[in-house]
This record gives sequence, structure tokens and C-alpha cells, in this order.
Amino acid sequence: MSEGATILALERVTKRFGGLTAVADVSFTVPAGELLGIIGPNGAGKTTLFNVISGYYRPEGGRVVFHGHDVTGQPPHAICRLGLTRTFQLVKPFGNLSVTDNVMIGALTRLASVRAARVEAQRVVETCGLGAHADTRARALPIGLRKRLEVARALATGPRLLLLDEVMSGLNPTELAAMVELIRRLHAEGLTVIVIEHIMAAMMRLARRIVVLHHGETIAEGPPAAIGQDRRVVDAYLGEEFVLAQA
Ligand SMILES: Nc1ncnc2c1ncn2[C@@H]1O[C@H](COP(=O)(O)OP(=O)(O)O)[C@@H](O)[C@H]1O
Ligand SMILES: [Mg+2]
Repeated sequence: MSEGATILALERVTKRFGGLTAVADVSFTVPAGELLGIIGPNGAGKTTLFNVISGYYRPEGGRVVFHGHDVTGQPPHAICRLGLTRTFQLVKPFGNLSVTDNVMIGALTRLASVRAARVEAQRVVETCGLGAHADTRARALPIGLRKRLEVARALATGPRLLLLDEVMSGLNPTELAAMVELIRRLHAEGLTVIVIEHIMAAMMRLARRIVVLHHGETIAEGPPAAIGQDRRVVDAYLGEEFVLAQA
């Protein structure tokens, strides 16, 4: 697929839980090679949107088109096989397994041979800066490395589009800088990335375009500088202090 062609299109996606509309009529497209940010207050519907895109929830309305395939309502493993993978906000590695073995599980989704999966896992572990911890049990990792393991597990499935759900939250400044660097590098190598994040400063540095969700609706979309000045975004989410800090 050529750079800039649409890799993901959301068409009026709606997801309800009983009487609550968690995602309301959301539409946007993502060109191949983009690094898109999604922000919004707690409960805005960000994770639910990822769950719909990656097949964990079937939407009540709308369509998800990935790489020319209508994947609406398809199961996660089928969507993953097409090249769309996500991380989970609450990271859940297999605690008793080593870092490499956790990553191998991702690789085995597309590689039939255990040996090939191990080689691929070792490569991804290095890419994600986890080489020194390859044999460490996942449960012994501090949060910063566990978040990186979560990215590594997703990467091992061989995605062309990677959805990252708050992989920067809870990290100290050093871990945060390392994660920003990793995401930048993966993007520079050609991966299309959608990042959900609460930490606005990191998002401002990372994304070239940001979609803002509020009560399940898209209230703004644009480059970070414009988003930081947008009246609806400031009122709903950022607050005046953010605007003053940016001035
Ligand atoms: N499985 C679920 N069942 C019922 N309500 C849910 C479920 N998942 C999320 N919600 C609700 O949907 C809304 C959006 O949640 P979520 O997508 O997790 O928001 P965000 O990730 O932006 O913080 C919230 O009001 C949340 O309580
Ligand atoms: Mg969330």
C-alpha cells in the first residue's frame, strides 16, 4: 500500500452499553504511515473505540474498513491476521512466562514454526529495548518495562496498523522518554500508529494529528497546535491552565 492511501476508515461508528452511548457516530480516516493521537477525558469512549476497531465489540451502527476489508463485527484474531493489532490499557502478560516467551505468543499468531517464532520474538525483544530482560519473568518487570512488553507482544503479530492504549501512563520521565522514542522509531520504520493517551504534553510531541473524543463524540480533529487552542477542547478537557502553559 502506498504512503498516504487510506489504511483505516471509520464510518459513523456507534457502540452502546444499554442506555449509554459510549461511541456516538464517530467517523475519521487514517492514511497509511500516519501517527494519529486520540485524546479525551476519562470515559470519553477511547478504549471502547479501540475495542470496536479491533473486533472485541460489535458496533450497533457504522462500519470499520481496514485495508480495503469491511471488518465490522469480525473477531479479533481475523482482524489481527489482516495486520491490525492493539495493546490493552490494563496490561496482562503471562506472569510466569519470560519476556521472550510472552512475545513468542504474539509471533505464533502468524508463524507456524516455533523456531521461527522464537527468532522473531528475539528480534522484537531487541527492537523494544528489552534485550537485557529477555529471560525475566513478566511479573517481575516494573511497570515501564511491562508497558514495553505489551508493545512488543503486539508488534510480534506483524501489524501494519498498531493501536496503543495508554502505553505511556504510569511511567516515570525516563520510561516515558524511552516509550516516546520507541513509538517514534516504529513509526519512522513505516508502521501506522494510533495512540490513545492522557498525557497531553507527550501527545503534543508525538502526533501530527489529534482526534478529541468527549462523551463518545468527536468534538475536534486537527494538528496539535490547533487542538490546544480549540475552545470546545479547552472547555471539555484541557482547561485554561493548559492554554496559559502553552502561551
Ligand atoms: N463493557 C462495558 N460495559 C458497560 N459500560 C462500559 C463498558 N466499557 C466501557 N463502558 C462505559 O463506556 C464509557 C466509555 O468508556 P471507555 O471507552 O473505557 O472510556 P475511555 O477509554 O475514554 O476512558 C464509560 O462511560 C464506561 O463506563
Ligand atoms: Mg480507556
